[in-house]
Amino acid sequence: MTERGEQMEMQAIDYRSTHDVPLEDVLILYKANGWSAAEKPELLHKALLNSETLISAWDGKTLVGLGNAISDGHLVVYYPHLLVLPAYHGRGVGREIMRCLRQHYEGFHQHMLIAEATAAQFYERLGFIRAGQTVPMWIYGGNEH
Ligand SMILES: CC(C)(COP(=O)(O)OP(=O)(O)OC[C@H]1O[C@@H](n2cnc3c(N)ncnc32)[C@H](O)[C@@H]1OP(=O)(O)O)[C@@H](O)C(=O)NCCC(=O)NCCS
Repeated sequence: MTERGEQMEMQAIDYRSTHDVPLEDVLILYKANGWSAAEKPELLHKALLNSETLISAWDGKTLVGLGNAISDGHLVVYYPHLLVLPAYHGRGVGREIMRCLRQHYEGFHQHMLIAEATAAQFYERLGFIRAGQTVPMWIYGGNEH
């Protein structure tokens, strides 16, 4: 790889705690991961902008990861979405987004999420455990699970 190429590879990821995340970038990220929320673009964008906390990861002008949180503000926080651009998987982006999200809710009684089976080990590495004898339940409009 050229020296310039190495420098580009080494460019630091910028983590932002802002709701200024353009829909076109969001859609590229969601479609790259095959998530059905991309089929409802306006609602997806509103949902992200309306989330209590939204963390985005940027490599220059490329949105490479995103995670959101909704909360009652005191006891419980739920993390609905976390996804990283496939080309950036395994580089610590997901871990850093979750660290930023969790920081906002330090000391909360319950940090909850529903993990993809393929992502369960990732969350375990971040300290999450299976939720006792509970059973995740939902009414869901997608079909990718
Ligand atoms: C799951 C996901 C968010 C992880 O993000 P990532 O940036 O690739 O993960 P990181 O590089 O931060 O990995 C952190 C650690 O978890 C491990 N890890 C990452 N993905 C893993 C997986 N699918 N299975 C097992 N371990 C995994 C890494 O090896 C790393 O281990 P370490 O503690 O030894 O360093 C990302 O793979 C993704 O977007 N997947 C598709 C969407 C998805 O499934 N989202 C979760 C919805 S519940």
